[in-house]
Amino acid sequence: MVEENSETHTARAAGGDLSRPWQTLSSGFEQARAREDSLDRLVEWPAQRALLGEVTGLAILDAGCGNGAKIAQLASDGAAASVGVDISGNFITPPLGVELIEGDLSDLAAVPGLAGRRFDRILFLQSFGYAADPVRALQIAREMLTGDGFILLTRTHPVRYAIERAEENGTLLGEEYFATESFAYWHRNWNDQVTLTKRPYTMSDLLNTFSAAGLWMETAVEPRMPAEAAERFPHKQEVMNKYLGILMFKLRPIPGR
Ligand SMILES: C[S@@+](CC[C@H](N)C(=O)[O-])C[C@H]1O[C@@H](n2cnc3c(N)ncnc32)[C@H](O)[C@@H]1O
Repeated sequence: MVEENSETHTARAAGGDLSRPWQTLSSGFEQARAREDSLDRLVEWPAQRALLGEVTGLAILDAGCGNGAKIAQLASDGAAASVGVDISGNFITPPLGVELIEGDLSDLAAVPGLAGRRFDRILFLQSFGYAADPVRALQIAREMLTGDGFILLTRTHPVRYAIERAEENGTLLGEEYFATESFAYWHRNWNDQVTLTKRPYTMSDLLNTFSAAGLWMETAVEPRMPAEAAERFPHKQEVMNKYLGILMFKLRPIPGR
């Protein structure tokens, strides 16, 4: 069975915008990501970039692109006709050849300007959990791929949330990993005034979502911290040792589905 795993958000204190929580959260997220010891800089983006490989001439769509810095980097590496979509609408000034559009990744075909377009690569980098209906979001993205296209999807390791909640609640890892109740979550490095309501998910939930959307997994990666980075930032290696980090999947359409 595929668990629905959408994540919703609420503002926990005065000042938060309940209707557009990522407008509040996105600046804190981008500041945290820009730090020289951020795991995105040290581990995640290098591993995502390696999985994408050569991008010259490729059309790339980054779904939940944040401020657009990653899609801008891909354009400067040679990608053509690149598009970033994010609900926050807090974007950098896009370089030539990059479009940044405010929109919902839950239905990419309905985002203004995207109907009928095809992409060689579609990215969901730490953004897939926010899809209203995860299977449908992937089915729509799948239809937007070119013949040899693939989806690169990364998501936080579910064990990380289970460990954090077990520590917080004084429970055991398995109790939290297999729990089904939504839980409140806030990221102290982003903005501790905005709470995300997260639906727990297991590895099998995630893999079953891909199959239900008609995708097969070509490659899975669990990126580690390079030794040189671990030496410079031992506190971040400790975080990785304790919480494992993120999962990365290269997904292709199952032929004939
Ligand atoms: C954890 S950040 C990841 C940003 C970027 N992909 C990266 O790897 O740095 C999640 C992003 O998803 C965006 N987001 C959340 N819900 C969304 C939705 N329904 N549609 C589009 N973007 C969404 C947020 O605004 C935020 O920029």
